[in-house]
Amino acid sequence: MARHLITSALPYINGIKHLGNMVGSMLPADVYSRYLRQRGHDVLYICATDEHGTPAELAAKEKGLPVAEFCAQAHDAQKAVYDGFALAFDHFGRSSSQENVEITQHFARKLNENGFIEERAIRQVYSPTDGRFLPDRYVEGTCPHCGYDKARGDQCENCTRVLDPTDLVNPRSAISGSTDLEVRETKHLFLLQSKLQHEVEQWVAAHEEQWPHLSSSIARKWLTEGLHDRAITRDLDWGVPVPADTWPELAAEGKVFYVWFDAPVEYLGATKEWADVDPSDRDWKSWWYEADETVRYTQFMAKDNVPFHTVMFPATQLGVREPWKKVDVVKAFNWLTYYGGKFSTSQRRGVFTDQALEILPADYWRYFLIANAPESDDSSFTWEHFTATVNKDLADTLGNFVNRVLSFSKKRFGEEVPAGGEAGEAEARLGEQIAALLAEYETQMEALQFRKAAAALRALWSAGNSYLEEKAPWLEIKTDKDGAALTLRTAMNLIHLYAIVSEPFIPASSRAMREAFRLDGDTAAWVSAEEARALAFLPVGTPFTVPPVLFAKLTEDDLEAYKERFGGE
Ligand code: MF3
Ligand code: ZN
Repeated sequence: MARHLITSALPYINGIKHLGNMVGSMLPADVYSRYLRQRGHDVLYICATDEHGTPAELAAKEKGLPVAEFCAQAHDAQKAVYDGFALAFDHFGRSSSQENVEITQHFARKLNENGFIEERAIRQVYSPTDGRFLPDRYVEGTCPHCGYDKARGDQCENCTRVLDPTDLVNPRSAISGSTDLEVRETKHLFLLQSKLQHEVEQWVAAHEEQWPHLSSSIARKWLTEGLHDRAITRDLDWGVPVPADTWPELAAEGKVFYVWFDAPVEYLGATKEWADVDPSDRDWKSWWYEADETVRYTQFMAKDNVPFHTVMFPATQLGVREPWKKVDVVKAFNWLTYYGGKFSTSQRRGVFTDQALEILPADYWRYFLIANAPESDDSSFTWEHFTATVNKDLADTLGNFVNRVLSFSKKRFGEEVPAGGEAGEAEARLGEQIAALLAEYETQMEALQFRKAAAALRALWSAGNSYLEEKAPWLEIKTDKDGAALTLRTAMNLIHLYAIVSEPFIPASSRAMREAFRLDGDTAAWVSAEEARALAFLPVGTPFTVPPVLFAKLTEDDLEAYKERFGGE
């Protein structure tokens, strides 16, 4: 048994996320966590909302709420959606927590003691009208590279170039719209990442072998471009305050840390939040501080987050010079597109996670998204693909199998697992096939190859269908009643196996399958290869009920309605 620490990139607080966000971070982390728990490992799955920075302040302003209140509400709204998706976090925290404030400030003090932080005077956009500096997105204007006139101070959405607010042509305040702006000098803290370049390189070299190619190639690209010193404070009201004991002057000016400085620290902060709920029983430091070899830490994120997790946060952790746990495996994802175009939170293009749950239960989405996760390349969401996959894999292959087997057996043999003959050659062949597919599923899951794991799961479901077609108990029963009973009993054991192995993907449907045999409890322990081969989990005479249809088949009308509502080009 190993201890698995699992985190997924912290969703930004400013709005409900779309499906693209879910598939590249929280959902695969949840699938992996569930799998490892079933296999008996000690798993801690931590996530949180990322609450600081200018987008949070601007979103609060738009809603007319104080930022703290906006974040509290937005956190609850996101949490409700994730509960709806059955994401089984051990803790879903908030980067604005007191725990994160303390650890972030501790990290900054240590970096300072070790010579990795320096105060520098820099030129910043100041708005006399607003009476404040305007960092990042608080300034808008024309992009100096492409001429786009709604470029934001941190980045141009049109050409994606990273900008500094002072780069913008015809700048204006995003708060008041004022164009009466000046550039003033003010002091900020800089993290001297350039001094850590060599150490980060060595650290990456020692770990990248365990990472998928996508992660290591992005890390390498950033290292080749070189680590630059960067400002880690901002002039904002909302954020982790610069500690006054170390920087009295900056603290008095109300400076806070930049959101990307405190956000990754919240992985630790949220773990402490988790422990603070029940300190006598939970030891957050055993996961993070001087953690022994048995702790394996896996992170999940989309590719835009990879530089922060493979290079910048490790640089921070290395500079702190304390034995904090660093990531072992960085699992990165490409983009999920919507009909080949971008999902966009700001333009509300695509399908949002709350809307998805209004349409269909979580299991439909969980399965589709993971089976088509953008792992080796971007992948495209289309309603045509979604409805076809649901109908074929979930409704026809799995759902129909369960229903057909149980209703037919009930009709002919009553509501108990029938006795019938001894397993024969067909059952032996089936057992071999199932054991091999189970091994394939395990291998792919452990390699974090989610599409391939989903394919193996689908193959397990198909194997049941082929067996049933081959034995055709509805014909068999006419000439060989014992033979038909054996077939149905074997098929019921397959259902029991499906309930277990499908759980990471479709937990609610798995539960319904287990409940058909009155096996309750939230999760079921994993199966061994021998058990899979024998397919004899259920004693003869075990009572069962026929569950309601597991997956509704989606019609042509459904498809049209989805396209109508969300747009289908
Ligand atoms: N909020 C960021 C995003 O949505 C991710 C933060 S991950 C963490 O891209 F490391 F900072 F926590
Ligand atoms: Zn541009």
